[in-house]
Amino acid sequence: MRFKVTIVGAGFVGATTAQRIFESGYADVVLIDIVEGKPQGVALDMLSSGPVIGTDAQIIGSNTYDESVNSDVVVITAGIHRKPGMSRDDLLMTNMNIVGSVTAEVAKRSPDAVLIIVSNPLDAMVQHAYRVSGFPKERVVGMAGILDTARFRTFLSQELKVSVTNVSAYVLGGHGDTMVPLIGSTTIGGVPVAQLIEASRLEEIVQRTRDGGAEIVGLLKTGSAFYAPATSAIEMAEAYLKDQKRVLPCAAYVDGAYGLDGFYVGVPTVIGAGGVERVVEIAMNKDEQSMFDNSVNAVKGLVDACKGIDESLK
Ligand code: LAC
Repeated sequence: MRFKVTIVGAGFVGATTAQRIFESGYADVVLIDIVEGKPQGVALDMLSSGPVIGTDAQIIGSNTYDESVNSDVVVITAGIHRKPGMSRDDLLMTNMNIVGSVTAEVAKRSPDAVLIIVSNPLDAMVQHAYRVSGFPKERVVGMAGILDTARFRTFLSQELKVSVTNVSAYVLGGHGDTMVPLIGSTTIGGVPVAQLIEASRLEEIVQRTRDGGAEIVGLLKTGSAFYAPATSAIEMAEAYLKDQKRVLPCAAYVDGAYGLDGFYVGVPTVIGAGGVERVVEIAMNKDEQSMFDNSVNAVKGLVDACKGIDESLK
């Protein structure tokens, strides 16, 4: 039996996520978008690659939610993306409405699903989806830490000319300009990175990581990153569906750890059959802790703005 994964939003992130899951064959995919014909066309095109790949997995597109019923995982990518010069936070009001209504639709049809939120501004959107869905915290999680960490690992691997697989790192905090690459726990083949790259160069790499999404927006001009975001969302979905118990940095509901009481932000998590099975606490030095606190405050500002919008809509 195959799993069932619904992806909401047939833009570049959604379509790439759908393609990769379909091609890997372990799940049937439902692709939903409001644009008439788009998800159906994209899905039919992908389905027709099945005989060449050799997969009997199914993929269908729809403009409504009924096909999504009883999904194991729902990945929400719907929303507008950044234009050059915009920050992720500029998307708040529009995407809050979109993510809220999508969440309500999928939650009632797939009450046991894990929701993976990808839409920006990520930390506020996942908090909003958690509130709207009424799901337990273990089953609502945001994709961002894997992406930000992957960018950091990429740049470090390029700098040192070593395999990406030997670069171990975490980028925590909010998925925004205040994200926190943890230098203190970044190692290259077990060697602390600070022993291999001098501080000023390391700071440049950290800044490039923080600007990683904006760099791609600037290059593409009409869109934002999608290959690495899709890959990151899939890693989370697979960790859950295959009960891998992988330690992955994700936007999770943190209650108790890191001095937080009931708040979504990027932290290392263990993802397995129970969803977000736990939050892993990692020791930070003084600088990292103050950057993390700063990032948490930035996310709090957005979440409060969301609550304000919520109230004004009542
Ligand atoms: C990025 C967007 C997806 O970081 O937030 O590229």
